[in-house]
Amino acid sequence: MTAPEEDKLREQALATLTTARDRTTLLTSCVEDPDLTAQHSPLMSPLVWDLAHIGNQEEQWLLRTVAGREAMRPEIDGLYDAFEHPRAERPSLPLLPPDEARRYASEVRGRVMDVLESTAFHGTRLTEAGFAFGMIAQHEQQHDETMLITHQLRKGPQALTAPDPEPVPLFTGPAEVLVPGGPFTMGTSTEPWALDNERPAHLREVAPFYIDTTPVTNGAYQAFIEDGGYDDPRWWTSEGWAHIRKNSVTAPLYWKRDGKQWLRRRFGVTEVVPPDEPVLHVCWYEADAYARWAGRRLPTEAEWEKAARHDPAGDRSMRYPWGDADPAPEHANLGQRHLRPAPAGSYPEGESPLGVRQLIGDVWEWTASDFLPYPGFQAFPYKEYSEVFFGPDHKVLRGGAFAVDAVACRGTFRNWDYPIRRQIFSGFRTARSGDV
Ligand code: AVJ
Ligand code: FE
Repeated sequence: MTAPEEDKLREQALATLTTARDRTTLLTSCVEDPDLTAQHSPLMSPLVWDLAHIGNQEEQWLLRTVAGREAMRPEIDGLYDAFEHPRAERPSLPLLPPDEARRYASEVRGRVMDVLESTAFHGTRLTEAGFAFGMIAQHEQQHDETMLITHQLRKGPQALTAPDPEPVPLFTGPAEVLVPGGPFTMGTSTEPWALDNERPAHLREVAPFYIDTTPVTNGAYQAFIEDGGYDDPRWWTSEGWAHIRKNSVTAPLYWKRDGKQWLRRRFGVTEVVPPDEPVLHVCWYEADAYARWAGRRLPTEAEWEKAARHDPAGDRSMRYPWGDADPAPEHANLGQRHLRPAPAGSYPEGESPLGVRQLIGDVWEWTASDFLPYPGFQAFPYKEYSEVFFGPDHKVLRGGAFAVDAVACRGTFRNWDYPIRRQIFSGFRTARSGDV
């Protein structure tokens, strides 16, 4: 890498760390301190845990590992180790109170600014192209998304506001797109800040398939509900059926029937469910059942990535559906600019060469696939980021949501969760195998 290339990455590292901290500050200052220490759901940490955990990870990786500094407060490491304490247990820990957590995170950041100035962006794998700084910016943004999930779970009046996405005319393009069969390059070996599970680039053979042009909308999902979809075991896997029966799941999370219409609660506001918006807060079992009801299936993870990255003209994989340029507002609904997905058919400038829309942003998309390592995977820099989650317990989600920042979203980016999860910003699109 040339010196000007390194300078550019250093500027990017500074900009993305700053963007992340501004968002963290917003999410932890828009409610009073008691709301930061409360547990709003047993599924989530108190917001003040995320705040100090963000600082603690930054201290461990950038100050101690990269710069070789002494621990600032070694006694708190255990409190903020996600593996030592499950989420439900975190409110009863002697956590740093809000003011101390803020001070700690900001002291770490102050020191990181010097380290960023003085660290060469080459020489070790961790500092190559500024990877450690990019990883920490992504980590903070992932916890900002986690905190936004907590805000959505929180009962009480609205604390966050954002403008709505631009209204668009009803999408009238083709409902599905044919993606040709053949090998394509999945994953990456060149994206400087790609995480370990996205690596290495490798060839994947994919048979021809059709994929929905847009994510499945609330209106389409309501048709599934009205058709008795939740009462018919034919559409559900046996685990899915057992789960929805046991837990009385009858509609997406946050939905409530009001006579003939559906209402939803969204960041403290109750509103009519908008029919043309991608469906949000469904679990994998619901997405899978809907697809079967519709005579279709969920795309595999490889199909999703081929739809998102394959350029038939250049016969290569691109960074994003629209090409190699970093995401801009006209491409995708990312970065908490809005507090909701944009209507189906939005962002024509972000479509793939084959015309698939909204693959990036709006809603995370469940895929049919388990979270597994790519051939040649190497855990880096720690096993607890990806490796310990590989296996059949977790399903892969792709594409990011309105709650995801661009730094933590790429055509190769992989997210995963349990198939019962729906407090996350999850939706889906469907697919079917093409004619052979
Ligand atoms: C990739 C979203 C599943 O939040 O559990 C944050 C990201 N890893 N801190 C998670 C993560 C460590 C992770 N997900
Ligand atoms: Fe974390």
